[in-house]
Amino acid sequence: MAAAAEPRPARGMANHGIAQVEVDGSGIPSLFTVPPSIVDLLETSSSVLQRDTVEECLPFLNGDEHAGKCNQHGIPRLDKQRHVKFLQKQLGKLPPQMTAADPSRPWFFYWCLAALTLLGEDVTAYSKRLVETVRPIQNESGGFGGGFGQQSHLATTYATVLALMLVGGEGAYDVIDRRAMWKWLCSLKQADGGFQMVVGGEEDVRGAYCASVIISLLGIPLELSPDSPAFVAGHKDLFSGLGEWVGRCQTYEGGVAAIPGIEAHGAYAFCALGCLSILDSPHRSIPKYMNVPQLIAWLSSRQYSPEGGFSGRTNKLVDGCYSHWVGGCWPLIQAALSGPSSSEARSADQQDAYSGSLFSRNGLIRYILCCCQDQTLRGGLRDKPSKYSDAYHTCYVLSGLSSAQHSWTLRASRPSGSTGGADEWDAMPYVEDEQIFNEDDRIGTTHPVYVIPKHKVEAAWEHYASKTGF
Ligand code: FPP
Ligand code: ZN
Repeated sequence: MAAAAEPRPARGMANHGIAQVEVDGSGIPSLFTVPPSIVDLLETSSSVLQRDTVEECLPFLNGDEHAGKCNQHGIPRLDKQRHVKFLQKQLGKLPPQMTAADPSRPWFFYWCLAALTLLGEDVTAYSKRLVETVRPIQNESGGFGGGFGQQSHLATTYATVLALMLVGGEGAYDVIDRRAMWKWLCSLKQADGGFQMVVGGEEDVRGAYCASVIISLLGIPLELSPDSPAFVAGHKDLFSGLGEWVGRCQTYEGGVAAIPGIEAHGAYAFCALGCLSILDSPHRSIPKYMNVPQLIAWLSSRQYSPEGGFSGRTNKLVDGCYSHWVGGCWPLIQAALSGPSSSEARSADQQDAYSGSLFSRNGLIRYILCCCQDQTLRGGLRDKPSKYSDAYHTCYVLSGLSSAQHSWTLRASRPSGSTGGADEWDAMPYVEDEQIFNEDDRIGTTHPVYVIPKHKVEAAWEHYASKTGF
């Protein structure tokens, strides 16, 4: 049962490309500053949690919890220094209660180094230390485990590879045994086109994304070794059948699930779009394997009002980390809709229809800066006000903030039908809306597919392209 709330007076209107959105004097769309106009009267455990979450967030969103520390838009500053200190600490010795996180150590390296980079810190000085730490967790059979003696896993290998690319330098690039990595990836590639995360383990869309990132960043040859389970089933290369497999993960809701037939989740939507954007340029591969209008409808439903943040799935709560997993889908969707900006072959629709933003950037920026900053001495960023900061949320909330502050354009795409070549992406400050954050709080940018800075991606490509063979 639904009830209509009181009509509200119209104020200024801003053009967001897709719809007309009212904006009050603060620059915040009024969608996020007045109660929802339609309220479902059916009470469920989910609706109670949702109401509690709104109540938890409102004092942070309206500035009560930031008394005297907000700018003229009611937005607090990004406490960069405190967040940097938090991240530096997470790269040091962790307390005994973190023992259970030991198999995730490579993730801590990636989350902290990526977040420090976004905050403008130079992380190259960590190179030697990182190389010596990850050398023993690389297995002779290829890939990296979570720690010494642990089985190689695509998630920890993805995190280790990205961390190494972030610190950069010959030592970091060359510690990776690329021949063994190729062999191991071939053993993970399955007859149905997808990738297992670990030999004999689960196959899901994280595998599709992590494998594509590793293959593409490290310049791994695509040819399949004859003992791969996929070769035996007739596949000839590491990417064959992968787009089709990822396409099967799109659900009736329009979102993307970990595997075909289960519930859609924002983290998997990002993995799917990231993987497809590696297989080919997003304007070709995304519409080829996904129903884009249904995906946009589902992604749009992830942004909640009044919170402004994203949820990961239907009837669940906002969480800062989806600023990346859902927020990071938008540049890829935008590129899928618009195509390369340099192409004269773009249709009139592509040139005009999507000049605005597909989500409310100011709504998201407000959620992040008001609700996700741990205001205690601890620093770092968090899921929502009732939660503690951690390295994972600090990384992905900052990545989401960066993609809300900037717009990415696919400047030029790789030649159609070629297996080689790379797309060229450009980032610019997003200027269509009134800027509600202080310019000092603008953070760095991160490649929309690889989630490390674009110049680090290019440096890796250049390094591995200079190698003959492995
Ligand atoms: C549900 O958690 C979360 C998931 C189903 C997805 C988790 C996956 C990732 C974070 C992506 C991993 C990506 C790579 C590249 C390895 P929940 O039930 O606690 O949260 P929710 O209520 O917000 O759905
Ligand atoms: Zn989270």
